Amino acid sequence: MQSTQSYSRTQIGLHWAIAGLILLNYVLSEGMEDAFDATMEGKVVAFGITPNLHVWVGVAVLVLVVVRFAVRLVQGAPAPMGTAFADKVATVGHWALYALMFAAPVLGAVSWFGGIDATAEWHVLVVNMLMILALAHAVVALVHQFLLKNGTMLRMMRASAPK
Ligand code: HEM
Ligand code: HEM
Repeated sequence: MQSTQSYSRTQIGLHWAIAGLILLNYVLSEGMEDAFDATMEGKVVAFGITPNLHVWVGVAVLVLVVVRFAVRLVQGAPAPMGTAFADKVATVGHWALYALMFAAPVLGAVSWFGGIDATAEWHVLVVNMLMILALAHAVVALVHQFLLKNGTMLRMMRASAPK
């Protein structure tokens, strides 16, 4: 995978847009379990705006994640800047985040559009794993920025060349 000087503007924009939409959809998930159960029982769902908004914000996340993954494969990423061990942990963590943010909406979509109960439980489990890993990821980024003062946050805020 090629090493670049910095993440591109596109990559930075997609990182923050996806993070924001995932957080928004977590908040917008209240009542989804009841809405899904009611739909599975063939009832007409009347739970305000939740099902539609949750479903379409989630589908938007999925589309953006696919675009982001393709951009990442084409454009690469800046070289890591820690010790060999820390860089390995970061690489594994980042690919795990990619896998979870792809799997979470896919499982939701398979459950909702396919009417499959089994994948709904996996959807919620994977979403929770994603939220825990994303929280740990954010804490590590902030520790690097404010305690170790190595400018990590700037890597996801400033592109050195317009792309
Ligand atoms: C990455 C974006 C997403 C996040 C963060 C997310 C988050 C959540 C959460 C936290 C719940 C549990 C709600 C509860 O306990 O009532 C939930 C449930 C659900 N979500 Fe999502 N979701 C996402 C994407 C999607 C998509 C794309 C779909 C469908 C197209 C979807 C369909 C569902 C369904 C059907 C349930 C009910 C599952 C059950 O019965 O346990 N979600 N979602
Ligand atoms: C749902 C939320 C989030 C997800 C799914 C996520 C995911 C990711 C992924 C996959 C990467 C690796 C980029 C690549 O190699 O292509 C990354 C990088 C990064 N993220 Fe996040 N992120 C989230 C939230 C946050 C938050 C809240 C912060 C800061 C408070 C943050 C700060 C960073 C930084 C600084 C990098 C660059 C790390 C480096 O290359 O040294 N992220 N993020």
